[in-house]
Amino acid sequence: MGIHVVGMGGSLGRDSDCLHALRLALNAAASAGASTELLDVRELDLPLYLHGSPLSPGAIQLREAVARADAMIWATPLYHGTVSGAVKNAIDYLETLAKHEPPYLTGRFVGLIATAGGYQALQAINTMEYCVRSLRGFTVPLVVPIDRGWQAFTAEGQAVEPRLQQQLAQLGELVVQSANRYRGSST
Ligand SMILES: Cc1cc2nc3c(=O)[nH]c(=O)nc-3n(C[C@H](O)[C@H](O)[C@H](O)COP(=O)(O)O)c2cc1C
Repeated sequence: MGIHVVGMGGSLGRDSDCLHALRLALNAAASAGASTELLDVRELDLPLYLHGSPLSPGAIQLREAVARADAMIWATPLYHGTVSGAVKNAIDYLETLAKHEPPYLTGRFVGLIATAGGYQALQAINTMEYCVRSLRGFTVPLVVPIDRGWQAFTAEGQAVEPRLQQQLAQLGELVVQSANRYRGSST
């Protein structure tokens, strides 16, 4: 079976900068041979995570998609210096994989993207890195912090700067390569 990459993130607003970025990175993962799936927080429509409560359709979709994933790409807007509440809430739903085998994100690589209005997108990346570690996953070393996200994408969701397009493509390829190598080394 090929590598399956699940993208998770976006924002509750329409025309999300970080969703554009996530789609471009997922497209690159698909070009590198992976199957891909997008979990857009706007479409998932998740209630605030309450441990032990029945799962909504979006929560079940998230849980099942992540359980199937060999690798993930997360994308958040920077809200007040950190990950947005909507994306952190989606991350909190990974608690539903606590008793999954393997639990949480064990053995999964995660690529990280953040967009900011100003210049501190890297802060949200760093916060997400703590989350990946606590969920027993691996982050890939290339990260894509996108400062001044409002000028980074066209209305059609293409990157304005070829350099950004290239970075997002490299991130998508890297999570696929990392998952392939891990699979090769762990069987
Ligand atoms: C509630 C809120 C808080 C924000 N906080 C910050 C911030 O602390 N620093 C910053 O540079 N941009 C901040 N922004 C701007 C967003 O990070 C930026 O517009 C981002 O590209 C939005 O991504 P999206 O279109 O995917 O939602 C904030 C925006 C909102 C709505």
